[in-house]
Amino acid sequence: MKLMTSLIALAAAAAISTPVLAAEPLKAEVIHWWTSGGEAAAVKVFADAYNKAGGQWVDSAIAGGDAARAAGINRIVGGNPPTMMQFNTGKQLDELVKNDFLANLDAAASAGNWKAVLPKAILNASMRNGHFYALPVNIHGQNWVFFNQKAFAEAGITAPKTWEDVLADGPKLKAKGIIPLAHGGQKWQDKILFDAVLAGDGGAALFRKVYSPDAQAAIADPKFKQVAETFKKLRGLMDEGMPGRNWNDATAMVITGKAGMQVMGDWAKGEFLAAHQTAGKEYGCAVIGSGYIMGGDVFVFPKLKSAEGTAAQALLEKVMFSPETQIAFNMKKGSVPVRTDVEATGMDSCAQQGMTALKDPERQLPSVSYLISPDEDGALQDVVTQYLNTPAETSSEFVSKFAAAVKASG
Ligand code: GAL
Repeated sequence: MKLMTSLIALAAAAAISTPVLAAEPLKAEVIHWWTSGGEAAAVKVFADAYNKAGGQWVDSAIAGGDAARAAGINRIVGGNPPTMMQFNTGKQLDELVKNDFLANLDAAASAGNWKAVLPKAILNASMRNGHFYALPVNIHGQNWVFFNQKAFAEAGITAPKTWEDVLADGPKLKAKGIIPLAHGGQKWQDKILFDAVLAGDGGAALFRKVYSPDAQAAIADPKFKQVAETFKKLRGLMDEGMPGRNWNDATAMVITGKAGMQVMGDWAKGEFLAAHQTAGKEYGCAVIGSGYIMGGDVFVFPKLKSAEGTAAQALLEKVMFSPETQIAFNMKKGSVPVRTDVEATGMDSCAQQGMTALKDPERQLPSVSYLISPDEDGALQDVVTQYLNTPAETSSEFVSKFAAAVKASG
């Protein structure tokens, strides 16, 4: 009996003295391109939620979508993959899936019932061959006009309804010493502007056709040439400092009233929010025309060798898709949650306009990253940027180059 008592005492003592090793936090290296003030505040929501759940978020932010995607793909193909990396919703991840570099997310998707809560277009964009390969995190409207309310009042103008209104507003803003259109002269931004004019001036049907197998017929339509001419005229509303400008520096020009408006995705709202400005108060927003170009972001999970790595991926997938994280992240990001079962709480007047458009299939236009390959979009960006910055290039020459670039992309 004495022996048993001492053994029990020994065991009890051992239990108290051996510190219970806290499980090592699950380290996750994440490559993304959210480097502006608003974007950094938004991605911090993901990082904090992951760390709180027992992870350790290692942030590898790389400025610029093209640069971040290239860096992540090189790391994966080179055999030194991050735990997770960002893409736009759509075709950008296709090559990695085809070459079997990505883990599927089926376990998280079934545990989280993703099929029941994702809009059809996003569900389709997140799956390949019946498996989930992308974790979608938001929906961004891409063809907004954001404007400074005070500047517009000073110039005696109101929210533009057509691109002709935008062009007519230019001289009125200039007369008040205000730069009419803040723009970042980077090729992806030039293309965002072109696509906004295509959707608003050319119309939703023409937009869909240009990025379809029937593209050549659409490009030959006189309306497409008219879109090109409207787009070129916008150059006259921009300031000489626009070449190379970052999109968020253009947003800052509208925030400070240096410029009247900016055409950009609603990630710009994250900058207004970070500057403590409110939609409908210091700034306004409008989508020109009926087409609402829906973009967004996803994360992919490269195949990893270690059990810790795959455990980190499973935790990321669970945490980032949870309703509470979805709402908190999208509030900061300026996007709307990708889950249909969460109320985008406290939606401002711009988000409400976006949600109305999202409810009308006729208005929904998938962004080009859903419709064409990154290579084709890159080739078209080059054609658009050259046209915007070459005064002598005619709309007819642009139309021919655009058609040739589509044809060359096969
Ligand atoms: C987009 C992305 C947005 C936004 C923007 C500018 O491609 O969907 O989340 O951050 O780039 O960086």
